[in-house]
Amino acid sequence: MSENKMRVLLTGGCGYIGSHTAVELMRAGYDVLIADNFVNSFPAVLPRIEELGGRRPDFRELDFCDAEGVDRLFAEEKFEAVIHFAGLKCVPESVTQPIRYYRNNLNSTLNVLDAMNKYGVKYIVFSSSATVYGEKNPAPYNEEMETGSCTNPYGSTKFMSEQIISDAVRADPELGAVLLRYFNPIGADASGRIGEDPFGVPNNLMPIVAQFATGRREHLYVYGNDYETPDGTCRRDYIHVTDLAIAHIKALEYISGRTGCEAFNIGTGVDYSVLEVINAFEKACGKELKFEFAPRRAGDLPTSYADAHKAERLLGWKAERDLDTMCRDIWRWQSNNPMGYEK
Ligand code: WQD
Repeated sequence: MSENKMRVLLTGGCGYIGSHTAVELMRAGYDVLIADNFVNSFPAVLPRIEELGGRRPDFRELDFCDAEGVDRLFAEEKFEAVIHFAGLKCVPESVTQPIRYYRNNLNSTLNVLDAMNKYGVKYIVFSSSATVYGEKNPAPYNEEMETGSCTNPYGSTKFMSEQIISDAVRADPELGAVLLRYFNPIGADASGRIGEDPFGVPNNLMPIVAQFATGRREHLYVYGNDYETPDGTCRRDYIHVTDLAIAHIKALEYISGRTGCEAFNIGTGVDYSVLEVINAFEKACGKELKFEFAPRRAGDLPTSYADAHKAERLLGWKAERDLDTMCRDIWRWQSNNPMGYEK
């Protein structure tokens, strides 16, 4: 449709981050081709992407572990870049089902890279995670730090996928890759039409807080109040999903016409405690949230936040939305869609 912008394949484009990125890409005039197998997403997001993006995104139902299906997709469709979101992402599930996590997250990455090589697609943006910094580095994390020593199989699949992509780039002088290391994505599109809708019981703080605020959850536990932090609770770098989505556009602009592999932290550079987040959410929803303290959750680090200067310097990207905006936007989504997409 657009004349000088790339057509982009979004693997896992119906998920939380994929759907917000699809909308921002369309708002910026890109054509998108979404492929998803709905393992952790809902078909009902597609008409909403159309509503917000102004036109119907092209869509294929596909599991990226299906090598023949991936080959067929690349043979039949033309696009210049891939944003690879598809993957399993539940940390505790990855501990109990490690083989499934390695098989799924690594095979899908391998299949995408094979097909890119065969069909001459030159650019990839990969959904990575701050979890690659492991437990040995002190916050704030910067991209020069050694990665690895991840605390769970999910994190290891992100670390290994980064390795695989950077080796593929080293072997192919025409490839360009950007690894985006997300911190803690929260928030929703300002319209309240799309947002995070995890299957079953959520694991992450914000969907739990949001569902607790609507009455869908009975308890809100704060895991640990004896960390060495000012209020005793863990601190994280929460980033608005719309800022994160825009970072993908900056990454595409950056690699277009370039080769090599570059990693960027995508965070705000500011950390908030669990109690500060709950407090901000109380303001946004206008309700008191009666949380309870519970023991520490295994594997949690006291503090994680980004040194986000590299993205600002090289991508020209900087987070713009603050914690109050993140909470307001989540509340708009959650209160308008208390049971998520399909109810
Ligand atoms: C944030 C803080 C909890 C739930 C994880 C993955 C990471 C990335 C994002 C994604 C912690 C506390 C939580 C609750 C609580 N992966 N908490 N009560 O652990 O920083 O990051 O999700 O796909 O790789 O590790 O995020 O939102 O789970 O937790 O007190 O009911 O909230 O202890 O301090 P985390 P989170």
